[in-house]
Amino acid sequence: MLVARYGRTLAAGVALAFVTGLPAAAQDSSTAEQTIDVMNTLFGKHPGKRANHAKGVVTQGSFTPSADAAKISKASLFAGPAVPVTIRFSDATGVPTIADGAANANPHGMSLKFRLSDGSDMDVVVNALAYFPVATGEEFRDLLKAVSESGPDAKKPTALERFVATHPAAATAGATAKTPSSLARQTYNGVNAFVFVDKDGKRQPFRFRFVPVQGEEILPADEASKRDPNYLMDEIGPRVAKEPATFRVLAQLAEAGDPTNDATKPWPDSRTTVDLGTLTVTKAVPDSAEAEKALLFMPNALTDGIEVSDDPLIDARVQAYAVSFGRRSQ
Ligand code: HEM
Repeated sequence: MLVARYGRTLAAGVALAFVTGLPAAAQDSSTAEQTIDVMNTLFGKHPGKRANHAKGVVTQGSFTPSADAAKISKASLFAGPAVPVTIRFSDATGVPTIADGAANANPHGMSLKFRLSDGSDMDVVVNALAYFPVATGEEFRDLLKAVSESGPDAKKPTALERFVATHPAAATAGATAKTPSSLARQTYNGVNAFVFVDKDGKRQPFRFRFVPVQGEEILPADEASKRDPNYLMDEIGPRVAKEPATFRVLAQLAEAGDPTNDATKPWPDSRTTVDLGTLTVTKAVPDSAEAEKALLFMPNALTDGIEVSDDPLIDARVQAYAVSFGRRSQ
């Protein structure tokens, strides 16, 4: 991840197009538009591509709920039977040609569109970070802006060093996501808190977690950087054609006092985790490049029984994804 791995990125002198300042037109625009403008500055403009997580692969599979899931949420997703799911795996950054094993391709992402039995969709958009570098959309924009102003020639202390001094998670979050041997061998985290509502109206905040049944398999950084630039995107289709890849879908439950409005703060590992069911990835779609154009995954596209929390990052993401989709659809 460029923004959260900046320490390494800058130290390694990675040749990204650092420029200073926001475009003048951005000054009157929304936070989301400003954020996408800075992403375009950092990663370049690539017509038809996502402003972030531009490189990806679209697959299909299904979700089978556990018996416990229906006890904690009235969502039809958990009532059964299994539903079809479209899953897009991705590399971080808005660079569509980034090497899958590059440090900046972390965190890899997984986006899911559950095709519910009533004909509606539910989206979940997760990545391999254990927690996020910042808590709000404004802070994320400012972090990206600081990165864009902190190229190798920037005067010390750089904008990024100044930002990190007041946002400690920005210094550490990036290192929590590492390069896997396969997109099917990585854990993906919800990072943002959502809320289950059960049939009696009881509310329980939680965070999603998708854990590969085969276990995580992380590559040493020097080995990852030597892999073929498309080794992850090319591997997933043949892998699941041979044998489906499965993930345990988990919910980490908040206890009273756990912050739901701050994605920089992971909850203790000791929190109860509920097994919601199994995600099975069965095939890559025949024309992924075409399929991904029409796909838009929205973190607030939920269903009765699962709601957004008071986490401000969720709405910031929704606004930014909409701006990115608008631009890539032109
Ligand atoms: C304020 C915070 C964030 C901003 C501004 C942001 C921005 C973006 C943008 C602009 C896109 C491209 C959307 C599109 O064109 O469809 C994107 C994609 C994505 N983001 Fe974020 N993001 C944020 C936080 C997060 C977090 C917390 C996660 C995961 C926990 C995440 C995971 C992803 C993934 C997996 C994709 C790829 C979506 C796809 O497959 O279509 N992002 N993000």
